[in-house]
Amino acid sequence: MEAMPADKRRQYLATMGIQLWERRELPGREQDVQLTEPPATAPAPAPAVKVTSTISALDWKELENRVASCTQCGLHAKRNRTVFGTGDKSARWMVIGEAPGADEDRAGEPFVGRAGKLLNAMIRAAGCKREEVFIANIVKCRPPGNRDPAEEEIAHCSAYLKRQIDLLQPMLILAAGRVAAQSLLHSDLPVGRLRGRIHHYGEAGIPLVVTYHPAYLLRSPEQKRKAWSDLQLALGVCAPGSG
Ligand code: URA
Repeated sequence: MEAMPADKRRQYLATMGIQLWERRELPGREQDVQLTEPPATAPAPAPAVKVTSTISALDWKELENRVASCTQCGLHAKRNRTVFGTGDKSARWMVIGEAPGADEDRAGEPFVGRAGKLLNAMIRAAGCKREEVFIANIVKCRPPGNRDPAEEEIAHCSAYLKRQIDLLQPMLILAAGRVAAQSLLHSDLPVGRLRGRIHHYGEAGIPLVVTYHPAYLLRSPEQKRKAWSDLQLALGVCAPGSG
């Protein structure tokens, strides 16, 4: 087929919006043409990249901020405050409860209601003050109506708790109540079957003792004797407090 004359080709290409690059340094020869797409409109700006570190890399402050802005499960919608945890960040004992109730949701601090007062008394009985242990919960937001946290809510919060345990490196975990005991030990046994012996948590094998939840002890004070023997079991591992 006969080649299209260069000026006609140039005209067609120009009509289609195709830019024609011509080599100028070859005088006397038919120009080579190179087709390129016309530059698109202005290049799209790079999407803003939000740099978020994995939870396992966060320090205490970053972790607390991450929890405070968490919207991973439905509990965030109705919370007043997240309840991160409180106490000595070099404590030997970490006490883990279930979830914030109404008082804790208002205060942003775990175990501040009636059950909290009993927990404080239990900690005192173990020989130290509340501020000398670290207290946290399995979930950081209040389940409405004080229902048990759902599996999905526990699952979303578990990375936060795991990071708290990794940062604290406690010598003993006291799991208060069924929800804490079962979720930390991945068990479905009742507290009555889990208490009375020393378990081990995670890869580090942190000694873990299960006891009754203080709210349960308020309803069933006759079980306080067993809770006291749980504390003695824990004390046999190490004394609470830091140092
Ligand atoms: N019950 C819990 O398990 N945790 C709290 O913080 C308060 C009540």
